[in-house]
Amino acid sequence: MSEEFVGQSGTAPTVIDTSTAHIARVYDYFLGGKDNFPADREAAARILKGNPGMRDTCREQREFLRRAVRFLTRAGIRQFIDIGTGLPTQENTHEVAQAIAPDARVAYIDNDPIVLAHARVLMADRDHGRTVFIHADARDPRALLAEPALRGVIDFGQPVAVLLIGILHFMEDRDRPGDLIRAMLEAVPSGSYLAASHGTPDFAPRMGDAVQAAYQASSMPCRVRTAAEVGELLAGVELVEPGLVLLAEWRPDGPVPDDRQQITYAAVGRKP
Ligand SMILES: C[S@@+](CC[C@H](N)C(=O)[O-])C[C@H]1O[C@@H](n2cnc3c(N)ncnc32)[C@H](O)[C@@H]1O
Repeated sequence: MSEEFVGQSGTAPTVIDTSTAHIARVYDYFLGGKDNFPADREAAARILKGNPGMRDTCREQREFLRRAVRFLTRAGIRQFIDIGTGLPTQENTHEVAQAIAPDARVAYIDNDPIVLAHARVLMADRDHGRTVFIHADARDPRALLAEPALRGVIDFGQPVAVLLIGILHFMEDRDRPGDLIRAMLEAVPSGSYLAASHGTPDFAPRMGDAVQAAYQASSMPCRVRTAAEVGELLAGVELVEPGLVLLAEWRPDGPVPDDRQQITYAAVGRKP
């Protein structure tokens, strides 16, 4: 490690490796945040060569997350499992949901210790047991679902929204994203929802491939997928209107910009 930050995550000290780029910190950089290091910014520069509009893509993804959470809360959902939380930013999942339904509960899950350290410090005082942060890996859904802290906040007898936003394309085929989705859907009752976004090469193949290669060159896994592949991953839910579309096209609040990014799909589906 060329540099390290020692913080506090729960009761255990957290050691953060800053010598290699991390997905959460690169994303934080694209969103204009300050929680990133030189290795993250170097990786971001490589990614921007592949997709000069990457900042817009990330902003569109965050906006999709907010619209999806509002839609789900208005549909009556009061429990969210947000897998691949990212670093805290403006209008995080629990803030969006609790602005509509103060009793909404959120379990945040991420495998990057810096996310957990920041999130716990920022949210600890303001929460009343309705939000929990869990350090777990989406590639091991059985362990994730067995987390006592998850069971403490989420009642698996009631509908749940599982958010997989900006994470699935960081799971290679060997990481079995389909197994994660199947396990989550098996764990939640009928009437639960899944909201997901996924990078794609469908509209701009060269850009999609270049972004994937840039992430991989910085030791971050990346696998963009076609509509057919994403559709297969989401086969266990019935997609709500407008189905699988580009991020900015999913129930937009206003006119859809002509120059919208064409590199990431979005969808929300209901477990029958
Ligand atoms: C691009 S950020 C997305 C943040 C947020 N969901 C959003 O859409 O704005 C992806 C997050 O997924 C996390 N992540 C990647 N692979 C993961 C895994 N196998 N298990 C848990 N979290 C993971 C990263 O640490 C990062 O915080």
